[in-house]
Amino acid sequence: MPPKWRYGWEILPHSAHSPDLAPSDFHLFGPLKRHLGGMAFETEDDLISELRNWFDNLDVDFFRVSNPAGTELEVVMMDWLGKMLQLPKEFLFSESDKGGGIIQSSSSESGLMALLCARTQIIAKLREDNSELTKGQIIDKLVAYCSEEAHSCIERSALIGLVTIRILQTDENGSISGATLEAAVKEDIAKGLIPFYMGACVGTTTRCTFDNLKEIGPLCVTYNIWLHVDAAYAGSACICPEFRYLLDGVEYAKSLAINPHKWLQVNHDSTCMWVKDKELIEGAYHIDYYILRHKSQGQKMPDYRHWQIPFGRRFRSLKLWFVLRSFGVSGLQAQLRKDISLAKMFEKLVRSDPRFEIVAEVVLGLVCFRLKGDNSQSELLNKLVNDDRRIHITPSKVKDTFFLRFAICAKSTQETDVTFAWKVIEEMADKIFPRETEL
Ligand SMILES: Cc1ncc(COP(=O)(O)O)c(C=O)c1O
Repeated sequence: MPPKWRYGWEILPHSAHSPDLAPSDFHLFGPLKRHLGGMAFETEDDLISELRNWFDNLDVDFFRVSNPAGTELEVVMMDWLGKMLQLPKEFLFSESDKGGGIIQSSSSESGLMALLCARTQIIAKLREDNSELTKGQIIDKLVAYCSEEAHSCIERSALIGLVTIRILQTDENGSISGATLEAAVKEDIAKGLIPFYMGACVGTTTRCTFDNLKEIGPLCVTYNIWLHVDAAYAGSACICPEFRYLLDGVEYAKSLAINPHKWLQVNHDSTCMWVKDKELIEGAYHIDYYILRHKSQGQKMPDYRHWQIPFGRRFRSLKLWFVLRSFGVSGLQAQLRKDISLAKMFEKLVRSDPRFEIVAEVVLGLVCFRLKGDNSQSELLNKLVNDDRRIHITPSKVKDTFFLRFAICAKSTQETDVTFAWKVIEEMADKIFPRETEL
């Protein structure tokens, strides 16, 4: 059998969890896509969106000379999106001397870049004060912080960066407060350690909770800690004025990343990362490679190869341009609001059944719920629902409480999909607890 048919018959059916599962029945952060011959699409609109992806591959864009439009459109897109998010002007190319943004491949890569730049900066500073200190001696004492509910990529970036990471306990709202961070920082300083990085989360993966940026931000300034904000999922919602408060305190951050590929109708991969001081990212691992010297080096336009880990890069800004131009700000806001209202509708359905409870406040498009009682019932429910294969949901666990996550972010999800999903969930719950059972 020629390889192309083997791909069609053996690989394609397994490329999207289940061949019969519609995107609107797949309840994770980031909509499900179907893949066909390298193209991914959820609806016909997605087919068009995938055509944008082809453009995305048009050219390698490691520095401005190789693709001036690639660099310049990216600069403009980062400012457009930055303004849609009402970011402080220090993060924007057009409104500051030092700030700006880049489209990275992932939040993981953005967080890693931020941590490595913070590491370089603190090492340089400490060695300036004491030239006898070796890099290794400093690295051994560095401490990064994140919440126990943060995405694993923050912990992983510390592992890759060879620094200690201290995982902080969240409060009852799933948040890291200023008091929690300060107590940890003081304790570590007393031990002779050097706090240098905080990976804060706006919209945790576990249950969409929010670290208190307004409290931890000023502390990071006081203790000279690089504050990186991971708003991979929830950041998109902040283009709606009524949700912008979720980013309050971002003015204290040195870097911030959101994933338009999660909830802003852009195909994977698209992670927008802003920094307040581009020198700290451009200068951290700068190598003046002879082959790539050019006459506009060091001028206003960035050489993005210095801002990222890979050398070459795709023309990702074109996808963002297509999305922003075709939906418009109001179209994107309407989509986000629709998803959030569907999540609220699902929350009501859960609350209407006394066998269930809601685990975290429903702020955006994620509903966390469980069967009352011990974890084993909800674990069984999760298994029954996913084995049934009509819908797909993911589990989570916080402080030993197991629960289910129902996320709405696929463009095609309608009220009927929500009622359908709830019907499936109730049907499976009936197998565990018949409805008349008093809990
Ligand atoms: C809050 C948060 N941060 C980071 C990530 C990782 O994103 P990426 O795949 O872009 O590295 C996720 C993925 O779900 C997330 O929810």
